[in-house]
Amino acid sequence: MNNFDFYNPVRIVFGRGRLEAIDQLIPAEAAVLITYGGGSAVRSGLIEKVKKLLGNRRVQEFGGIEPNPRYETLIKAAGVVRAQKIDFMLAVGGGSVIDGTKFIALAAACKGEATDLLKFGFRRINHPVVGDVVPFGTVLTLPATGSEMNDGAVVSYGNGKFPVMSDLTFPQFSILDPAITFTLPPIQVANGVIDAFVHTTEQYLTYPVDAKLQDRMAEGILQTLIETGGLTIREPENYGARANLVWCATMALNGLIGTGVPQDWATHMIGHELTARFGIDHAQTLAIVLPSLLEVRREQKRAKLLQYAERVWQIFNGTEEEKIDGAIQKTRAFFESLGVKTRLSQHGVRKDELNEIVDQLTEHGMTALSETRDLTPAISRTILEKAF
Ligand code: NZQ
Ligand code: ZN
Repeated sequence: MNNFDFYNPVRIVFGRGRLEAIDQLIPAEAAVLITYGGGSAVRSGLIEKVKKLLGNRRVQEFGGIEPNPRYETLIKAAGVVRAQKIDFMLAVGGGSVIDGTKFIALAAACKGEATDLLKFGFRRINHPVVGDVVPFGTVLTLPATGSEMNDGAVVSYGNGKFPVMSDLTFPQFSILDPAITFTLPPIQVANGVIDAFVHTTEQYLTYPVDAKLQDRMAEGILQTLIETGGLTIREPENYGARANLVWCATMALNGLIGTGVPQDWATHMIGHELTARFGIDHAQTLAIVLPSLLEVRREQKRAKLLQYAERVWQIFNGTEEEKIDGAIQKTRAFFESLGVKTRLSQHGVRKDELNEIVDQLTEHGMTALSETRDLTPAISRTILEKAF
């Protein structure tokens, strides 16, 4: 097992009816900014409920944070935080609203150019760049990204999507009431299952380092998603199934399964370029890239792919090649069973548009991807070609 640091200070408040806890969790005298997205949380009545629970606190709202939140929108909100002397934020939404709120907190406290915050990638931003950030909590409405229990955000700017991470942007608390997610359309639930699945494979399908517990936690998440993914789409108000999805999605990216193991974020980095260029939903880009990437990287990932075939898909018979083929096919079939397309051609992308994607990867510094840092833009191109 590799050395690791693990730090995660997020309080999780899980279950039905737990929204009421926000009254105890937010200081009584706080000036609160509620952040939300395009309106689903207004239509469901959730914002009204939250406002009622905040009682006599001074409350402002900032709605309109779009999916794949844009820098320009978030900067406006940072202006509100400063001008209105906001001292607590409450993000009500999915990954985009929560990520956006993290960035708003950093940008409002940034001493220099806020665009500089986009330059750190996976390196954590520390104190010299920003001063005291406004603390925030979240009310999760879409189980997918794990943003409710991690310190990462992804911000869209120009033609790119930029990861931003900082110990200063862990939520203080996150309310996870599975019933709040019942209003999600089926495709967003499918997106959530796939995002959580691929977060797990990015930290598991690499090479073995004898991290037995991390491997089994990852396999547990993958098996739970396979068991309940279809069910929670077919039966959106089945509380048990949805509760399992919510907790899987959180556990997939709160740092725990990634401790002491190699990580491969190539599927995400290639996927981000597809979202930036074609507007394909985040998770749907992952469903396109992962099966193809596993095919192309089968030698580098051989030992873990065999373990995945046996332990996750119960494929015990056949040659090594047959087992790996079977595992990749079952992965693709699982995504498709959720109603998600796994081919670029199904999204109307043309082969001659691939040059732009490969150029974007180079422009954004994504030239040495994967757990072994040897996944070049040329290999990304092969992965994308095989994804047609
Ligand atoms: O904007 P509204 O009107 O609220 O509608 C949203 C949005 O259109 C809707 N929605 C959310 N909750 C709902 C609901 N509709 C009905 N009922 C509800 N309860 O769903 C749509 C998608 O929302 P969004 O927040 O964009 O989805 P998701 O949670 O998948 O977040 C995607 C973003 O997270 C980033 C992605 O890159 C993308 O920008 N990621 C963040 C990560 C992190 N912080 O660790 C890791 C991920 O890999 C990912 O990159
Ligand atoms: Zn993701």
